[in-house]
Amino acid sequence: MTELTFTRTEAQRLPAAEREAILADPGFGNYFTDHMVSIVWTKQDGWQHAEVLPYGPIPMDPASSVLHYGQEIFEGMKAYRRADGSIVAFRPDENAKRLNDSARRLALPEIPVDLFVEAVRELIAADAAWVPSGADQSLYLRPFMIADENFLGVRAAERARFMVIASPAGPYFKGGVKPVSIWLSQEYARAGRGGTGAAKCGGNYAASLLPQNEAAENGCQQVLFTDSATDDTIDELGGMNLFLVRADGTLLTPELNGNILAGITRKSLIQLAKDRGLAVEERALTVSEWRAGVADGSITEAFACGTAAVITPIGQLKSPDFSIDFGEAAPGPITLSLREELTGIQFGALDDKHGWLEVM
Ligand code: PLP
Ligand code: COI
Repeated sequence: MTELTFTRTEAQRLPAAEREAILADPGFGNYFTDHMVSIVWTKQDGWQHAEVLPYGPIPMDPASSVLHYGQEIFEGMKAYRRADGSIVAFRPDENAKRLNDSARRLALPEIPVDLFVEAVRELIAADAAWVPSGADQSLYLRPFMIADENFLGVRAAERARFMVIASPAGPYFKGGVKPVSIWLSQEYARAGRGGTGAAKCGGNYAASLLPQNEAAENGCQQVLFTDSATDDTIDELGGMNLFLVRADGTLLTPELNGNILAGITRKSLIQLAKDRGLAVEERALTVSEWRAGVADGSITEAFACGTAAVITPIGQLKSPDFSIDFGEAAPGPITLSLREELTGIQFGALDDKHGWLEVM
């Protein structure tokens, strides 16, 4: 356990009837629970003032460093309500460790893993009534850290704030498991060697928004980024990792090359696939290989995965010059069965054989 003790200031809670109306159809990222967590860090005194506060605006000076140089990192994770009413979080320690990987790259302070998990636990305890119980619903948690020192010189801040907010969530994509179309970004890259591609920092997402708009204009729901040096080697989607499936059941996914996020869903699916005896190749994958594999029938499925997306089948990859189309073959059987297995574990219908769930 952590040495910091959390204090709680009770919020004026949203009336139960209004909360229930939201939980009936929350969408994704639209509503926030009654409380939030805030912990302050200073270079001099370390982590202090661990608080559960009413959800609301935070005081910020216009010179706060996050506003100018984007020194910010975040996480995305979910808590689920099981059939017996209990609430579990999925691999929260993995999110804590990844936040610390991001912190090192962004010159922000690392937070003890148990303090991170305790912060999540405190927020869920305060707002347990907000964890929905409908099919495919969960409480999406957004831990994040911002530099919060007031000065304009360009250097790592000596003051930061870690926060956790929570939002009841339904499926990220409106169609649920309906296959999505992906836009191949050609003009814009997301990451390059030595950059921040492997960190979960706000700047990566800011850079993805213009190509994401381009995707939407072309009828696509996500952008696929390739390596900026080759324009062919697949990195990942704007907010998800990518898998291809071969006709023999082998899973293919880009290796962790420093440019992509080490997805926790990705890591979990690799484990579940190996448990089934499926081969998994983590290596450089190219759009050319994808195209050729669909054309000759050796690549039969593609899917996106992430906390928000869960597992979402990909029906089509589009670019101005060509498209790769799975047509009626999407969603494929391996995509669907891995999705069923992962969500079965998360919602408690299947045995949690790897000990991924933490009761909150
Ligand atoms: N890649 C990016 C860029 C993401 O934003 C996410 C979502 O968090 C992922 C991959 C998937 O990561 P995870 O499975 O840990 O949610
Ligand atoms: C997540 O899956 O948690 C993300 O951060 C990605 C975004 C699409 C919400």
